[in-house]
Amino acid sequence: MSARTGMGYDSHRFEPGERFILGGVEIPDVPFGTVGHSDADALAHAVIDALLGAAGLGDIGFHFPDSDERWRDANSIELLAQTCTLVEESGFSVTYVDATVICEAPKLGPFRDEMRAALALTIGVPVGSVSVKFKTNEGMGWVGRGEGIAVMAVATLERGS
Ligand code: C5P
Ligand code: MG
Repeated sequence: MSARTGMGYDSHRFEPGERFILGGVEIPDVPFGTVGHSDADALAHAVIDALLGAAGLGDIGFHFPDSDERWRDANSIELLAQTCTLVEESGFSVTYVDATVICEAPKLGPFRDEMRAALALTIGVPVGSVSVKFKTNEGMGWVGRGEGIAVMAVATLERGS
């Protein structure tokens, strides 16, 4: 068996009145959300780049350029599904995904299982094969000031299915 690992990173700025979508889950009752060309789901975007990285398929901007009107307000869970098709077509299956969301507020732990379920369903793996973790930045820097969100993700693939 030949295993491959990829890493992904994404960040989005927060602005008042925007929707806050993370891992396909809309976080309710927050007076701000993420700004971006698509739905600005930083968790989905970091996972997409981790999967593309492991498969050696470039990055999210190569496949879904933000200069392309097709991807305006795109549902990032849809982009993740398309990414998984590309990964499968290149001869890999997804073994495991792990992510760390760095966000000062709100507390996101209560949404962990919903995000895992949405990501696992889209990727086509058991929910136990997707991990999502949360950290503040301890008040430091732009994340600490609540100006935006950062996400790091790792994906493991194996050849064949
Ligand atoms: O950043 P810190 O170490 O203080 O985070 C402690 C815990 O708080 C994390 O392990 C996570 O369970 C939770 N957390 C959260 N939502 C955040 C940040 C942290 O649920 N936005
Ligand atoms: Mg993004």
